[in-house]
Amino acid sequence: MSDERFIGIIDSGLGGLTNVRELMRLMPGERLIYVGDTAHAPYGSRSDETICCYALKSAEFLAEYDLKMVIVSCNTISAQCLSMIEKKFNGIPVIGSVLPGVRAAVMRTAEKRIGVIGTDAAIRSQAYTRAVHSIDSDIAVYGKACPLLVPLVEEGLIDFDVTRAAVQHYVYEMIDLGVDCLILGCTHYPPLIEVFQGTVGTRIQLLDSSLWTAKEAQDILVALDAFNPQKHGGIRESRFFITDLIPAHKEQVRLFADFQDIVLQLIPSERYHR
Ligand code: DGL
Repeated sequence: MSDERFIGIIDSGLGGLTNVRELMRLMPGERLIYVGDTAHAPYGSRSDETICCYALKSAEFLAEYDLKMVIVSCNTISAQCLSMIEKKFNGIPVIGSVLPGVRAAVMRTAEKRIGVIGTDAAIRSQAYTRAVHSIDSDIAVYGKACPLLVPLVEEGLIDFDVTRAAVQHYVYEMIDLGVDCLILGCTHYPPLIEVFQGTVGTRIQLLDSSLWTAKEAQDILVALDAFNPQKHGGIRESRFFITDLIPAHKEQVRLFADFQDIVLQLIPSERYHR
């Protein structure tokens, strides 16, 4: 059996394209409806209430499409309000971006010490600790909010001393705590993977949530026998909606996914009024 319906993607902005890039590597024929709330991003420094309110608006927008699956690429939204989004999509799988990285880390930690880095709101939620302990309550989980990393990446400051210093500032603590796995719990961290690797060396395994979330989506589509039979071209037939457009967004598309041919479409702003 095959299923040509769209996969819906919810993100706070354009960082979710790191997850889209992994999805397209694994399943190049899948077609996506992406919604990124660029008018209100970054979500990571906002209150729980604001994040959930805007994420729900994006879910309502997506719910108008005929979807076979929804992926919440944004770790902050997943950590704060995944269950609320699940309620909007009765009968289709909704995949968050917290649990896939957690499962991968739990399987790999020999020392039973896992570190997680992410936005303020993602770490504050304790969602990663709860997810790890739902699998193995003997594992110690250390969360560290890294508020400087999202703006540095959005500025395109990847291979720069200021970024290396910020990564060291946040991540050295994880080395001191003796973690052997570090979950990169944010859409914006994949462009920094070499900086992280250079900071932790080979002592710590890095688990990129955008990659593990894409793998989980693939596993579920295989289990449901619901692949799109197309071999490629999914990205050209996908649609990318955002809530605000500035020239820097084009640069961010290049940074997060390097898709040449995607067109960003604006959602009318009234839809996001509180
Ligand atoms: N998408 C967010 C995340 O993965 C990072 C950007 C933001 O704070 O909105 O947590």
